[in-house]
Amino acid sequence: MPRAIQIAAFGGPEELQLVDLPVGEPGPGEIRIRHHACGLNFIDIYQRTGLYTGPLPLTLGMEGAGIVEAVGEDVTHLRVGERAAYASNPPGSYSEARVMPAKTVCKLPDDIGFETGAAMMLKGLTAQYLLKKARPVEGLEPGDFVLFHAAAGGVGLIACQWAKALGLQLIGTAGGTAKCALALEHGAAHAIDYAKEDFVARVKEITGGKGVKVVYDSVGKDTWEGSLNCLRPFGLMASFGNASGPVPPFAPGALGPKGSLYVTRQTLFTHIATRESTQAMADDLFGAVLSGSVKIRIDQRYPLTEVAQAHRDLEARKTTGCTILLP
Ligand SMILES: NC(=O)c1ccc[n+]([C@@H]2O[C@H](COP(=O)([O-])OP(=O)(O)OC[C@H]3O[C@@H](n4cnc5c(N)ncnc54)[C@H](OP(=O)(O)O)[C@@H]3O)[C@@H](O)[C@H]2O)c1
Repeated sequence: MPRAIQIAAFGGPEELQLVDLPVGEPGPGEIRIRHHACGLNFIDIYQRTGLYTGPLPLTLGMEGAGIVEAVGEDVTHLRVGERAAYASNPPGSYSEARVMPAKTVCKLPDDIGFETGAAMMLKGLTAQYLLKKARPVEGLEPGDFVLFHAAAGGVGLIACQWAKALGLQLIGTAGGTAKCALALEHGAAHAIDYAKEDFVARVKEITGGKGVKVVYDSVGKDTWEGSLNCLRPFGLMASFGNASGPVPPFAPGALGPKGSLYVTRQTLFTHIATRESTQAMADDLFGAVLSGSVKIRIDQRYPLTEVAQAHRDLEARKTTGCTILLP
């Protein structure tokens, strides 16, 4: 019987348990996939702790790559035996095999390996929509400054490279000298060690006092206020995560005096709600990876059975780039 990692209760990494999980046949609109690798994402931690709740017991994991083993009725874009990868709701990729909705599963190009496929879908599609769809009202032109927090992480290193390819001057924040160096190596125009430096003051200095057009903020609670103070008038606060904790309620009135700012809270799952939108975004990502403008850096690999350690390392800010779990 296929094995999977489940939680029976919300809590710490110790809740992650290896279980035998029967996998049936796909129904209409579904496929069965046998995983070669799955991706680790910070959202897995929110789901484990219960910050984002779901029905229990819950098999975690929202990103994976493998071989399509069976195809349900009405699925026309995938065939048995094909290589595929996905970022998808509901969770369940921490498993040897699973049945899942087919609409967000994409055929993996021949020149992209399973490990890369598993590492890049959720993080790469996120970087795609952030840079290309979550746009400030005044638009983004080559040369414009944007601020991206946690720039040496999984989404971060992809965003650094993609922003550079788009001609943007990405100012990346990261904790520590080594992480800052990594962000610069991957295309960030500037890096700020926000563990030591006042990132608001540094952004003002770098931009000649003007501020940035967009802040991409996945850190949440700890950076929220500072991020708003880095924006130029009509700038966009694109909040997309809570690695340091959720942003507390705020008064919209504060956005006026700071320069008539815009705030949005984005999630990938709105962007990949349909087969068509998922495929269009994935094609863009595959193109960026195949052209070499975005390299998927996998810095950590763990056996699926050691997922608890992977969670501890991600939470403790010990990882850089992407992390995969191997069934
Ligand atoms: N809304 C969406 O559509 C969407 C999709 C994908 C990811 N996300 C979000 O994007 C972020 C990045 O995801 P990822 O999977 O690529 O993770 P990651 O960036 O590889 O890891 C998270 C990073 O956040 C930074 N961080 C800052 N404060 C932290 C704290 N108190 N505890 C732990 N880490 C902290 C750390 O980097 P430093 O040490 O450099 O500070 C850490 O390495 C996460 O917040 C995730 O939830 C959102």
